[in-house]
Amino acid sequence: MRKGAISIDSLSSRIGETAVLNGWLYNKRGSKGLQFLIVRDGTGLVQCVASLSEIDADSWKVVEEITQESSLWVEGMVRVDDRQVGGVEIHVQKIGLIALAEDYPIAKKEHGIEFLMNHRHLWLRSRRQWAILRVRNRVSMAIHEFFQSKGFVQLDAPIFTANAVEGTSTLFETDFFGDTAYLTQSGQLHGEAMALAFGKIYTFGPTFRAEKSKTRRHLSEFWMIEPEMAFFDLDMDMELAEDFLVHLIKVILKDCSTELEVLNRDTAPLRAVEKPFPRISYTEAVEILKSDGTVTLVEARISELEAEAENLHTELEESKRSYGQAKKGVKRQLDQRFGQINQRLTNIEEELRNLPEWLESARNFEWGTDFGGSDETLLTWNFGRPIIVHRFPAAIKAFYMKRDPDNDKVALGMDVLAPEGYGEIIGGGERATDLEFLRAQISLHGLPESSFDWYLDLRRYGSVPHAGFGLGLERMVAWLCGLHHIREAIPFPRLMGRLSP
Ligand code: 4AD
Ligand code: MG
Repeated sequence: MRKGAISIDSLSSRIGETAVLNGWLYNKRGSKGLQFLIVRDGTGLVQCVASLSEIDADSWKVVEEITQESSLWVEGMVRVDDRQVGGVEIHVQKIGLIALAEDYPIAKKEHGIEFLMNHRHLWLRSRRQWAILRVRNRVSMAIHEFFQSKGFVQLDAPIFTANAVEGTSTLFETDFFGDTAYLTQSGQLHGEAMALAFGKIYTFGPTFRAEKSKTRRHLSEFWMIEPEMAFFDLDMDMELAEDFLVHLIKVILKDCSTELEVLNRDTAPLRAVEKPFPRISYTEAVEILKSDGTVTLVEARISELEAEAENLHTELEESKRSYGQAKKGVKRQLDQRFGQINQRLTNIEEELRNLPEWLESARNFEWGTDFGGSDETLLTWNFGRPIIVHRFPAAIKAFYMKRDPDNDKVALGMDVLAPEGYGEIIGGGERATDLEFLRAQISLHGLPESSFDWYLDLRRYGSVPHAGFGLGLERMVAWLCGLHHIREAIPFPRLMGRLSP
C-alpha cells in the first residue's frame, strides 16, 4: 500500500492533480498498448487508463499481469470525464501490485444464488451489494438522527433473555449457566422498562426468530429498531411511525441516488410516500380483501405482468440476434442485461403462478385469522402506498397488547404495510397497563409468570399509558432498494440452512 492515498469518492475535488489510490482491480479491458482498469476502494469505482508509452516498464508489467480482485496502488493524474461514474478518471503514471489474486470465483457471468451465498464474503465486493449495504448504512444513521432529534434516548435491550415476547414457537433456546435462556425476539419488554425510566427510548439491536419456513421476508437473525414512549396512545404511535418512515425515505432519496441508480430502483413509489398513510382497521381490511375490487386488481396485475413478460421476451430475442456482431464491450453489457431479464422473467412467472392462489385465499379469508404475505400484498395494491392496519383480533396478537375499550375482541395493535409486495415492515401498538389483565394474559398464553414478575412491576409502580413499535431494518432496506429477497439486505444473512460464511 501507499501512504497518502485518497479515496475514490473524493477524487472529484482533486481534478488536475496527481493522486494516489489504494484499492482492488474490479475489472480490466483494453488492447495491446492501452488498458482500462476499473479500480474499487470501497468508496466507489474509478476507471484508470494505462498507456504503454506513458508508464515505466515495471508498472506496465503490473498492468498486464494483474488479475481481478488483486490489490494494488495507483498514482496518476485526475482528469474530468463525464462519461464515467463520478465524472472522473485517472491517467496512470505508476502502478504497483500489493497482492496478486488467484482466479476469482465470482466472474462476470451469471451465478446461481446458492453459489453467491456460499461466497457472500466475496460477493460483498460487487457493485450491487455495495449499493445495498451503503443504503443500509445510511438508513441506520437516519434512524439515529430521527430519534435523537426528537429527544429519544438510545438504550440497548439484552440479547439473552428469560422472556418470550412474540409467541413461543419461534424461540431459539440456549443454555445460560444451567438456566434456559432465549435469544431475544424483541427488545420491547425491556424497552418498556426503559421508557418508564427515561420517557422516550429506542433500542437498535439484533433479534432472533426460529422461523421454520423459508420466505422472501424472513431472516432468523434480523435487526430491529424499537421506540417505546411513555404517555403515548395508539394514535400517537401511528403518527410517529408515519413521520419516521417519511423521514427515512426522504433521506435515502436525497443521499443515496447513486446507490438507487446502481440498483435500477424505480424511485416513483418511494417519492409517492407521504403523510398521512391510509389507516384502516383490521375489520375494514378483511372487507377490502374479500371485495370484488381485489379481483379486479388481480386481473389487472395479471395483464400487466403478461405484457411486461412479452416485452422482455421480445427484447431478449432482438438482443440475441445482434449479439454475434456486437463488440466485446457491448457483449458484456448484453450479458448483464440477459441476466437481469432472466431474473425478472423468473419472478414474473412465479408471481403469475401464485396469483390465482392468492386471490383464492383472499376471497376465503376469515375474520380472526392473521394476514399472510399475499394478503398484505393484495391489500396494499388497493392503495399504492404504505397503509396502517390497526385493531387486530386480540386472539392472534401478543399477550401485552391493550384491548380496545370500545370492543374487547380487538387489540390496539397496528402494522405498517409497505407497498410493492413488501408487506409488514412495522409492528407495534399500545400496551396493556392493568396488572390483573396482564397476569391473566400471561397465564392464558402459557407463559411462566415467574419470569415476567419484573415486567409486572412496571404496572405495580406507576403504570402509565405507553406505546411503541418495531421496524425490521432488513425489510426496510429491501423495500428501499427494491430487492426481491431480504437476504441481500444484511451483510451475512442467517436463515434456515444458512450459517456460513
Ligand atoms: O411484528 P413484530 O413481531 O413485533 C414485535 O416484535 C414487537 N415486539 C415490536 C414492538 O412493538 N416493539 O416484529 C416487528 C418487525 C416486523 O414488522 C418486521 O419488520 C420485522 O420486525 N420482523 C422480521 N424481519 C425479518 N425477519 C423476520 N423473521 C422478522 N420478524 C419480524
Ligand atoms: Mg408483526
